Amino acid sequence: MTVIQPGATIGILGGGQLGRMIALAAREMGYRIVVLEPKANSSAGQIADEEIIAPYDDAEAIAALNAKCDVVTFEFENVDAVAARPLEEAGKLVQGTDLLKTTQHRLREKEALEAAGLPVAKYQAVRTEAEAEQAVKALGAPSVLKTCRGGYDGKGQVVIEGEREAAEAFKQLQHAEELVMEQWIPFHKEVSVIVSRTPTGEMTVFPVAENDHQNNILHQTFVPARVSPLVHERAVQLAQKLARHIQLVGTLAVEMFVTENEEIYVNELAPRPHNSGHYSLDACTVSQFTQHIRSICNWPLIEPEMTRPVVMTNVLGEHVQPLNEQLPRLSSAFVHLYDKGEARPGRKMGHVNVIGASIEEAIQETERLTVWDAPTTING
Ligand SMILES: Nc1ncnc2c1ncn2[C@@H]1O[C@H](COP(=O)(O)OP(=O)(O)O)[C@@H](O)[C@H]1O
Ligand SMILES: [Mg+2]
Repeated sequence: MTVIQPGATIGILGGGQLGRMIALAAREMGYRIVVLEPKANSSAGQIADEEIIAPYDDAEAIAALNAKCDVVTFEFENVDAVAARPLEEAGKLVQGTDLLKTTQHRLREKEALEAAGLPVAKYQAVRTEAEAEQAVKALGAPSVLKTCRGGYDGKGQVVIEGEREAAEAFKQLQHAEELVMEQWIPFHKEVSVIVSRTPTGEMTVFPVAENDHQNNILHQTFVPARVSPLVHERAVQLAQKLARHIQLVGTLAVEMFVTENEEIYVNELAPRPHNSGHYSLDACTVSQFTQHIRSICNWPLIEPEMTRPVVMTNVLGEHVQPLNEQLPRLSSAFVHLYDKGEARPGRKMGHVNVIGASIEEAIQETERLTVWDAPTTING
């Protein structure tokens, strides 16, 4: 595959903030953008040269995208693989649909991770209440029951503290076709690694990010991650090993648990730029979005090195007002807002990257802003 030259048109499936930041990076490089999204004037649609307003699996809309674009990417993983097939057949979805299909289904994802030789928490498929009970017996409590499809930000999962809770957890989730029971990993830290790879096999890895979730939504990312050099090295190696095994094209985020005694388990994957990589916009030699465009357009990749320590904090609906009040004090903070309209509590509206001479200084500076002091709202 040759380099897709600027002036060409990149299609994006999805109109959310990830699509917006992909589009901004691509426009800076001279590409044209078409966004397919059911709602007009979406966060990504605002940045596009053209919006196609239709459901993601609308065959006519996919055909239009195919006709208008030289390459197509996606900003979320629940893209209908059947609907996307014409794009793949036309050679425009250079990332392919294999990884999409794998990451759409937690069981398949775990099987793929094991096949690549990566460590995952013990798990069992669950289809009935009896199987849920049996799985907790086998795996031990605590465990967590998850829907195989459609879960995000902690939705579609129930933590089980004791064997007697298995039946109730199953009842809560039995609307889903397939479930998986997973052993709870008493993690010391959560980290993630973002890897980018071109069709010609060039690969780079972003610095390891340390993640803190609140109410199952990513709250903060700290980079450099406060883990040992050994954990840094192993986390990067695991991500590289997986990317090579699946012949990745594009961007892959690998979420991992790190235990007190430095064991690493892969939690889940995202086949796209990731919230935990937003720090790269202001603290790396290249952002995950620019690298994504370079990888799908088969440019050479830039080695993503840290330029300075950073804390990324998400701005949810309830943080927008306090953030606005702090604007006069933001001398070391980069503000990224997604122009999504209504600032509903729990809705991701933006993020702030606070840089510092050290990670401790960046943390202190973030705390000084008091934007995130009020207890966070459960995502509704
Ligand atoms: N097996 C587990 N052990 C420990 N913590 C878990 C486990 N599964 C999920 N969690 C916690 O819940 C969060 C969300 O779960 P995850 O599987 O990543 O789903 P989502 O798709 O909602 O991000 C994780 O980041 C982690 O904090
Ligand atoms: Mg997750």
